[in-house]
Amino acid sequence: MVYQADPQRYQTMDYRRCGDSGIKLPAISLGLWHNFGDETLVETSRQLLHRAFDLGITHFDLANNYGPPPGSAERNFGRILQEDFLPWRDELIISTKAGYTMWDGPYGDWGSRKYLISSLDQSLKRMGLDYVDIFYHHRPDPETPLKETMRALDHVVRQGKALYVGLSNYPADLARQAIEILEDLGTPCLIHQPKYSMFERWVEADLLDLLQEKGVGSIAFSPLAGGMLTDRYLDGIPADSRAASGSRFLNADQLTESKLSRVRQLNDIALSRGQKLSQMALAWVLRDNKVTSVLIGASKTSQIEDAVGMLMNSQFTTQECEAIEAILQQGE
Ligand SMILES: NC(=O)c1ccc[n+]([C@@H]2O[C@H](COP(=O)([O-])OP(=O)(O)OC[C@H]3O[C@@H](n4cnc5c(N)ncnc54)[C@H](OP(=O)(O)O)[C@@H]3O)[C@@H](O)[C@H]2O)c1
Repeated sequence: MVYQADPQRYQTMDYRRCGDSGIKLPAISLGLWHNFGDETLVETSRQLLHRAFDLGITHFDLANNYGPPPGSAERNFGRILQEDFLPWRDELIISTKAGYTMWDGPYGDWGSRKYLISSLDQSLKRMGLDYVDIFYHHRPDPETPLKETMRALDHVVRQGKALYVGLSNYPADLARQAIEILEDLGTPCLIHQPKYSMFERWVEADLLDLLQEKGVGSIAFSPLAGGMLTDRYLDGIPADSRAASGSRFLNADQLTESKLSRVRQLNDIALSRGQKLSQMALAWVLRDNKVTSVLIGASKTSQIEDAVGMLMNSQFTTQECEAIEAILQQGE
């Protein structure tokens, strides 16, 4: 059956301005790192995208290497886009990135002009797009001059292959330099994509303040710590979960008793607020307006529904903030 987007899709989502730019992002964005590669049925991926867009999630985040195998998430997304989403292309913010290993030899990785421009061309082909909305440098390159990497980002915008550019995984000092180079080149940095959740708080030291000072937006990836900050692992490791999948990013070793004890205590607070832990964890990342959007992953449409349901209760009392902080301060 031909997909028809839900006419009610803009009724409930909150759209937040991305830094000082003209763009607003949905409070919740969907990442395609997992569940869009060739190991997932394309119909499952399709359902996730339909449900997300029907709930007002207008931003889909990809990278050259998402899969497995690398490149397959972009290819599968491109297929679904061509089959279902073409009438809505102008309602979507589609991002991709380059920075991790993508092909053999010295030009398939890191941050050279050669790699970034070739990689974006490949991404556009895989997705069947003329341009992406945001092109990111995925991780800092300790060897390539920062100016070369930023000039490559500026170049793809001037070529019309990306509308905006962003940085990911850049520490604050390097982010400041990169943002200033981009400013000088006349292509402002739209957004920074760092890892941020209740369990991963490095951005609070200086990055979020820097981004506010510079008028750059932010999108927090893995806000549920890959699923740890949900009720998924309260009673063991379900067979269909990420931790059971052999992932090196989330496995049984990381689900320590001390972490699970904090998860249980956080879960109790979430229940007392009348919501799920996943919802409270997302609301917490968005709590003080320093973060523009939370970038979630999902293996089931119900998880996307949970995330959007968070918007019904996204405020915290001082007592709740203090109780959460006390739990997060409990060490390993
Ligand atoms: N820039 C970077 O370097 C970088 C790195 C990593 C990720 N990212 C981006 O961030 C996106 C999200 O990353 P992530 O997948 O790690 O994010 P996450 O939101 O922290 O974790 C998502 C996983 O949590 C579980 N989950 C989600 N909602 C749930 C719910 N309501 N109840 C129970 N379990 C739930 C699901 O895992 P199950 O499979 O167990 O169901 C889901 O796949 C990626 O797709 C990518 O776009 C960027």
